[in-house]
Amino acid sequence: MNRADLIVGLQWGDEGKGKIVDHMAQTHDVVCRFAGGHNAGHTIVVGEKIYALHLIPSGVLNPKAMNIVGNGVVLSPVDFIEEMSQFNNLKERLFISDKAHLLLPYHALIDQAREKMKGDKAIGTTGKGIGPAYGDKIARVGHRVGELQHPEKLVEKIMHHFQKNQAIYEVMGVEIPDRSTLLEELEGYKNILAPYIVDTTLLVWKVLDEGKKVLLEGAQGTMLDIDHGTYPYVTSSTTVSAGACSGLGLNPKDIGKVTGIAKAYCTRVGNGPFPSEDFSKDAERLRKSGHEFGTTTGRPRRCGWFDAVAMKHAVRINGVDQVALMKLDVLDGFDEIKVCTGYEVDGKVIDYVPYDLEDVKPIYEAFPGWNRTEGIRNFDDLPDTAKSYIEALEAMIGARMGIISTSPQREDTIIRGK
Ligand code: IMP
Repeated sequence: MNRADLIVGLQWGDEGKGKIVDHMAQTHDVVCRFAGGHNAGHTIVVGEKIYALHLIPSGVLNPKAMNIVGNGVVLSPVDFIEEMSQFNNLKERLFISDKAHLLLPYHALIDQAREKMKGDKAIGTTGKGIGPAYGDKIARVGHRVGELQHPEKLVEKIMHHFQKNQAIYEVMGVEIPDRSTLLEELEGYKNILAPYIVDTTLLVWKVLDEGKKVLLEGAQGTMLDIDHGTYPYVTSSTTVSAGACSGLGLNPKDIGKVTGIAKAYCTRVGNGPFPSEDFSKDAERLRKSGHEFGTTTGRPRRCGWFDAVAMKHAVRINGVDQVALMKLDVLDGFDEIKVCTGYEVDGKVIDYVPYDLEDVKPIYEAFPGWNRTEGIRNFDDLPDTAKSYIEALEAMIGARMGIISTSPQREDTIIRGK
């Protein structure tokens, strides 16, 4: 039976999925996004050109690959159209699910207004409207991409919703769009997007049945998952591998090899618990050498050490077959490298992720550092201390690190044999 390969982030997003997905997209016929929206983002450099991808799957850079945006995604037409404009000839190469939910400009306004109202309890969202768009979906008042085929009907539904909820929007200071401007906007979206809107569930079944090589591309990371992350400081979608089933219409048996992506240290953007966060000059050094600034918002990322407890949780939840360990070279030159091996909660040490990570204290084990791993392409050529570090992590998390990345360059990647 032909099964789809899956890529999933194991930390708080920004693990470096872009490099691996880009690499794998070259050898796959079909690449599918299953969750999230334009809150995600990575840049891919091809020769002289830099492409910014937020929602279009990375297969767009492989001229032979087909790209599917699944029903689990929330799609902002205006941002999607802008992203599309970087590429020529997307016809027959890009397909958007008619069941994906629309993220419209007012969702972003609501997102920003809610964040403001939360004050110091703000989640630190990307402000793109992700939460309100998924909120509408779950509350069954959302609108789907397929509805763009009939802008007149859609505008009626949206205006009706606004009229019913006028008082709420007034309190939040969110301006209700004008009917004719909104209609014009929706018609504009329809004109551009209609040729790409299809039933992607049938399409993804078809390509699997035909024996095509399918890659499922996750966004964000496990610890930002709506159910399994650090709620409420999470994104609003299912970022774990199970999300690929609901977000595309697959069943669990359709999933083949799962590659989990993790950095050799850890980062997070936005607010919320981060047990292994470092506040010393080590964090600054990680931020600087790892270029840890958000691709979507430019915000500096919070930096810290590899959290083996959270990672063991992520390996189990996602059914990880192999880990791709990214940015090992960013740890080059540290005398000592710390790993979080347990959490202290109310004086007790635990080795699992509890319900609430807010007040846990990290327990660290220190490992000797190394001079240089940058650019190394064979496992055997790594310094002994780097090998020991990797092997210790493997033992702690219960998964093999089959891919190790030692620089942003495509070629600087160690692919380990069995
Ligand atoms: P939202 O997805 O914009 O609602 O943001 C919710 C949380 O997820 C915030 O902490 C964001 O910083 C975080 N987040 C969303 N997308 C990404 C991503 O692609 N990488 C890292 N963090 C993200």
